[in-house]
Amino acid sequence: MATPPLDCAVIVPVLNEVDNVEELTARVFAALGPLEGEILFIDDGSSDGTPDLVERIAAADRRVRLVRRVGRRGLSSAVTEGFLSTIAPVVAVIDGDLQHDETILPQLVEAVASGGADLAVGTRYAGGGSVGEWAAARVRISRFATRLSAGIMKTQLSDPMSGFFAIRRGLFLDIAPRLSQRGYKILLDIVASHPAPIALAEVPYSFRTRVAGTSKLDGAVALQYGELLLDKLLGRILPVRLIMFGAIGLVGTVVHMALLWLGLAVAAFAFPVAQALATLGAMTFNYTLNNALTYRDRMRRGWGWIAGWASFCAACSLGAFANVGISTLLFSDAWGWWLSGLAGAAIGSVWNYAATSWLTWRRR
Ligand code: GDD
Ligand code: MN
Repeated sequence: MATPPLDCAVIVPVLNEVDNVEELTARVFAALGPLEGEILFIDDGSSDGTPDLVERIAAADRRVRLVRRVGRRGLSSAVTEGFLSTIAPVVAVIDGDLQHDETILPQLVEAVASGGADLAVGTRYAGGGSVGEWAAARVRISRFATRLSAGIMKTQLSDPMSGFFAIRRGLFLDIAPRLSQRGYKILLDIVASHPAPIALAEVPYSFRTRVAGTSKLDGAVALQYGELLLDKLLGRILPVRLIMFGAIGLVGTVVHMALLWLGLAVAAFAFPVAQALATLGAMTFNYTLNNALTYRDRMRRGWGWIAGWASFCAACSLGAFANVGISTLLFSDAWGWWLSGLAGAAIGSVWNYAATSWLTWRRR
């Protein structure tokens, strides 16, 4: 054999981390010491030159690899692709911004390699671990999210929000088809997607303050966390996208009524004009929110945004016809007015969901 086999792979998801990747690479290899390891950077189209820098590092060191993704986004799915791109028996995941303490990597890897555990997690909430200099509000949010997650897991982790862990690759491959791959919390996704408890080791560490670059955690990420929980709880019954589409549709109805009132009372339009404008406004509102939230991973931008808007309005207009037609039929069949109306609206909404998922946000 030309080179010794790998003991482990270290996956590093990166989005605009140009000032961190070189230092991280050096520190990870230093920490691994005699362990044979490779580092896989998974980049989602960074605009700051991160992938080019990783290429230069990799050109000088074969143990470093780069996976570039186009047209796909998201921390969990990036990490998943990393897992699928290595054959190392033990795979670790670490942030690319130096906030995770890489010196515990050998402990995480050894815990799994020794056969003592299938999953080893770096934890901030047990024996000696800490969240470092987090603002009090963020500590509270993190703890709250942690408590919410307990209900969907067979293995109780002290820090299920952690993005710092090592796992036996074979176990990951078993779980992979069941993953939600939504949002940020791949560890939670892994544990929640496994039907039985997992042999667990926990290694405490202190979360560091970010020095270079900026965090990618924002409001939408929190929402995606809610989606992950929902998907794990209800995913088998109702797709989370349909739930979100419906919720946005309900808010859209309120927007519709507000616009209608404005058109009638303030602008003094004739009813059909006000109703048409309100419908267009509500459709635009629904489209914008669904594009940014429900289909964040397939978000349409630029000209694509306009083309998407046109196809959304076209699909929903058909949905409105179906709605009116079916509810009228039911009404004439002696169903009550509200039941007929509700049934029409529900069928129209499901049509809108199905048609736009295909027309407007088809996976390309
Ligand atoms: N490829 C890719 N795609 N990488 C991403 C994406 C993405 O969409 N979003 C974020 N990253 C990368 C960042 O570049 C960074 O290396 C790492 O993922 C974590 O992102 P941060 O934005 O720094 O997240 P954080 O510090 O708020 O939270 C992290 O640490 C927590 C504590 O362990 C996350 O890893 C959490 O999952 C973790 O709980
Ligand atoms: Mn970070």
